[in-house]
Amino acid sequence: MATENGKEARTKSTDTSGTPLLRVNDLKTYFFTREGTVKAVDGVSLEVQRGEIRGIVGESGCGKSMTAMSILRLVDKPGKIVSGDVYFHGENLLKKSRREMARIRGRKISVIFQEPRSSLNPVLRVGKQLTEVLRIHEGINSKQGQARAVDLLKEVGIPDPQKRSTNYPHEMSGGMAQRVMIAMGMACAPDLLIADEPTTALDVTIQAQVLDLIRNLRDEHGMGVMLITHDMGVVAEMADIVTVMYAGTSVEEAPTEELFEEPLHPYTQGLIASIPVMGKVKDRLDVIPGRVPDLIDMPVGCRFAPRCKARIENQLTKCEVEEPDMLDARPGHRVRCWLYESENAS
Ligand SMILES: Nc1ncnc2c1ncn2[C@@H]1O[C@H](COP(=O)(O)OP(=O)(O)O)[C@@H](O)[C@H]1O
Ligand code: SF4
Ligand SMILES: [Mg+2]
Repeated sequence: MATENGKEARTKSTDTSGTPLLRVNDLKTYFFTREGTVKAVDGVSLEVQRGEIRGIVGESGCGKSMTAMSILRLVDKPGKIVSGDVYFHGENLLKKSRREMARIRGRKISVIFQEPRSSLNPVLRVGKQLTEVLRIHEGINSKQGQARAVDLLKEVGIPDPQKRSTNYPHEMSGGMAQRVMIAMGMACAPDLLIADEPTTALDVTIQAQVLDLIRNLRDEHGMGVMLITHDMGVVAEMADIVTVMYAGTSVEEAPTEELFEEPLHPYTQGLIASIPVMGKVKDRLDVIPGRVPDLIDMPVGCRFAPRCKARIENQLTKCEVEEPDMLDARPGHRVRCWLYESENAS
């Protein structure tokens, strides 16, 4: 699939700068509802380097998808990006016109979602849909497009791609449909792939195959991947570096191995402690008591404070008064927690 064109474009764009592929800086996206302001994304910062898989992990409702939608500038009313920066190849996406953004979404940043079929057109054969994407974005004719479409289906591991290209989405399994979505995403050789819970709707075996596919495509094409999931297992398996989110904000960031070996934030510690061991499912609520705060009515201070045992054990009074910033606790390991304040100062 990586046409010479695609390869050239990527080499050109990677060679020209030492800046990260994607840099999100203190992003805030709020929903202005009748009930109040929902702070869906409230101070998220993260980077994705070329060729890197950045895991974004956190419980349902913590703002992962809205972070992705904000990067893509696809937030609908009553939602609004209220502040922050999103640099892609060093250029601020929040300053781009709608038209420029549409081009970037088609050619440079691809996105795949949890429900592949909801993003596919049910009345068009999948080969035709792929050909359309190629025609619009690459400007190639339909005959060339058909051949490329079959190549793409082959590359994402679809058996008998020629025949499969004539299928309608409903004639395919969930795993096959997700492969088609990935093929559509890869059609324009993107620099960044945003995968939002790409395997959550799939059976465990199929899940592993689709994750393998994403990793192989990264290895082969060197694109950056932002992999969003609520599943610590997926993160452990796939990510080079992880951002943990809680209640709309990033609370910890570290290389994957280090995060699992030495989680610093009490919330991350709880998440890791609640990973099932040897098929024995533990109740997360035993490990992290209480619930995620209402994003309309966020606690003052650290938003994890109402659930945090470490706060009580360490008799920290500041937690309920002032929200901590992200601190550099170790080289390359950042955490939003007062427990590490003195380490940061030293
Ligand atoms: N249209 C909307 N109106 C009000 N709140 C919304 C809307 N869409 C999303 N939200 C809020 O944004 C928060 C973050 O949602 P989302 O990013 O989808 O979470 P995640 O992907 O982590 O499960 C949710 O708690 C939800 O309440
Ligand atoms: S800042 Fe305080 S309340 Fe928040 S996670 Fe750290 S110890 Fe717990
Ligand atoms: Mg989501």
